[in-house]
Amino acid sequence: MNGETASLRIRGSEISLGVRAATLGQDVVDVSSLVANDIFTFDPGFVSTAACTSALTYIDGDAGVLLHRGYKIEDLAAQSNQLEVAYLLLTGELPTALEFDAFRRAVLACRDLPAGLYDVCRALPKDTHPMAMLNTLCAALSAFEEIDIDMQDESARREVAIKLIAKMPTLVAMALRHQAGKNLTEPDAKLDYTDNFLAMVFGETPVPVVVDAMERILVLHADHEQNASTSTVRLAGSTGTNPYAAISAGIAALWGPSHGGANEAVLEMLEEIGDIQHIETFLARAQDANDAFKLMGFGHRVYKNYDPRAAILRTSCHEVLESLDSAGNPLLRLAQALEARALEDDYFIRRKLFPNVDFYSGIILRAIGIPSSAFTTIFALGRIVGWIAQWNEMHRENLKIGRPRQLYLGPGPRSFVAMPDRA
Ligand code: CMC
Repeated sequence: MNGETASLRIRGSEISLGVRAATLGQDVVDVSSLVANDIFTFDPGFVSTAACTSALTYIDGDAGVLLHRGYKIEDLAAQSNQLEVAYLLLTGELPTALEFDAFRRAVLACRDLPAGLYDVCRALPKDTHPMAMLNTLCAALSAFEEIDIDMQDESARREVAIKLIAKMPTLVAMALRHQAGKNLTEPDAKLDYTDNFLAMVFGETPVPVVVDAMERILVLHADHEQNASTSTVRLAGSTGTNPYAAISAGIAALWGPSHGGANEAVLEMLEEIGDIQHIETFLARAQDANDAFKLMGFGHRVYKNYDPRAAILRTSCHEVLESLDSAGNPLLRLAQALEARALEDDYFIRRKLFPNVDFYSGIILRAIGIPSSAFTTIFALGRIVGWIAQWNEMHRENLKIGRPRQLYLGPGPRSFVAMPDRA
């Protein structure tokens, strides 16, 4: 508390509420004492609610700022890599060369999966959605790994964080190989984190431009404060469930088209639009309040001017398209035309709807050769770092189970009527 208070006048009395100061961004009114006055707050979608304290990631949606532990996403995307960002998010500081080497070695040493997990994967139909595969495989790790973890033990949490960061690329590659009907591959000890992932997926050593683009996608997706999937990981984790189960819950939340499923939806939408000459029809549909159609990959709950991750990936996207010689691909040309047209449309300008990170990541992933149904698994691969760092941070504090309340609008007490007597 910073000494400032807010007051709430209700039912003839005044309740004083403490104000907690943020180091950056919005301060919060601490409403946790309201329950003692028999009042709840109501905030569907949590648009005005801070559910926890955190020192990991800061977003200023109006200014288009994203910081991890104070470092700008632009600097991290240009000069860092996913494992270094993982170290930063987990520990709070950038590693020295020695610290990074030890961390990297620890992660690379844990990439293998138990043989039984390969059997679990083979038992799934090949047309299972890759997110369902990933969700199942991650939860199934609970069957093979030690889950009786002392959550208060910092080193035990770190060990499991390293395991999950290490195994997620192997799990994603396994799901992608199974979906493609190919033999399941194993990690190559000689290859680094991202190279190995791509080599496992495609069965060949990846070219540098593809590795760089993938590395950037992973860094840009590493964490995004209390988004839906991270909040899900925290909520599940708050019950004391094991981290494999908590991450599996996060994967389920990420799957939806309003969250991580958006980049898959972008490609589906482009396929539905089909041709540049149909763009106007779909733009009109997106603006029709009676039509549920939205321009996928546009808009963001937090970034209302531009998404800094999208600005970085836009450059990457053009680089990849040029060097992979895919600029002639009709779908990718359609994406570029749609982007240009929407950016000059009054409806999108007035509502501050800009392409988000999913718009460009979808296009890059398509150019690289990842099937669109598997795009969200790549998002999960990036976000494992944030999920587990947030889970770790949550357990460092005095844990309270997450348990929201409700505004009940159902019927009052009534008498049960036996079935034969019902009208
Ligand atoms: N296409 C057309 N209209 C839109 C769109 C869109 N993509 N997004 C928002 N609007 C309109 C919306 O209908 C509303 O119009 P009006 O003021 O006339 O009622 C106005 O813009 C404000 O939208 P909102 O629904 O209040 O915005 P929100 O903050 O609740 O929703 C969003 C954000 C991302 C869910 C939404 O923009 C959306 O559904 N976008 C498409 C899906 C997408 O790309 N999702 C990925 C999000 S980024 C990935 C991540 O970080 O997880």
